[in-house]
Amino acid sequence: MPYIRESIVTTVNRSGKVHIAPLGIIAERDGWVIAPFRPSATLDNLLQRPVAVISYTDDVRIFAGCLTGRKEWPLSAIEDCPVPRLSAALAHSVLEVVEMKEDETRPRFFCRVAAEETHAPFTGFNRAKAAVLELAILVSRLGMLPREKIESEIAYLSIAVEKTAGPEEREAWGWLMERVQSHFSGS
Ligand SMILES: Cc1cc2nc3c(=O)[nH]c(=O)nc-3n(C[C@H](O)[C@H](O)[C@H](O)COP(=O)(O)O)c2cc1C
Repeated sequence: MPYIRESIVTTVNRSGKVHIAPLGIIAERDGWVIAPFRPSATLDNLLQRPVAVISYTDDVRIFAGCLTGRKEWPLSAIEDCPVPRLSAALAHSVLEVVEMKEDETRPRFFCRVAAEETHAPFTGFNRAKAAVLELAILVSRLGMLPREKIESEIAYLSIAVEKTAGPEEREAWGWLMERVQSHFSGS
């Protein structure tokens, strides 16, 4: 399996409107592949402006927030780049698309790294952060997974949250669980 970095991807459309979404970028050769499912704003934007900024962050509220309608995270401009980064990024990479492989469900954009910068030290993950990230992925697939699988994974992940979550992880977990509950209640 290739290495996949779970990150927050910013892109802009033709008129410069910024879109932010969690995506896993996939290591390939000397670059990274961005593979957005159809339909998605990230896909539309990359077709309009073939540049993405990858923000690496340990603030899991941003992953959970993006999946639950909370997309207003502070952004910072990058010199000589049309796309901003997350202000909370510990580091970022500017990726330029060099090749696109069409696909009916999930086109692949092969990108080269045009620039990279570090902004703050990475001081490690706790188990609750990892659990929130896993729940965020489950939430992004609610429509595709059977209820029993979702419930059994949540039961396992909630142990780490109960034992190790701080206020930020607890908040992020709460946002995601609201989404799970409204999915199961059909609203
Ligand atoms: C950790 C994580 C990784 C994800 N990776 C991908 C991905 O590689 N491709 C994708 O299409 N969606 C991925 N998703 C789901 C997207 O974030 C979500 O569907 C999003 O709304 C994309 O659509 P948009 O660009 O229209 O916002 C991921 C979600 C999480 C939480």
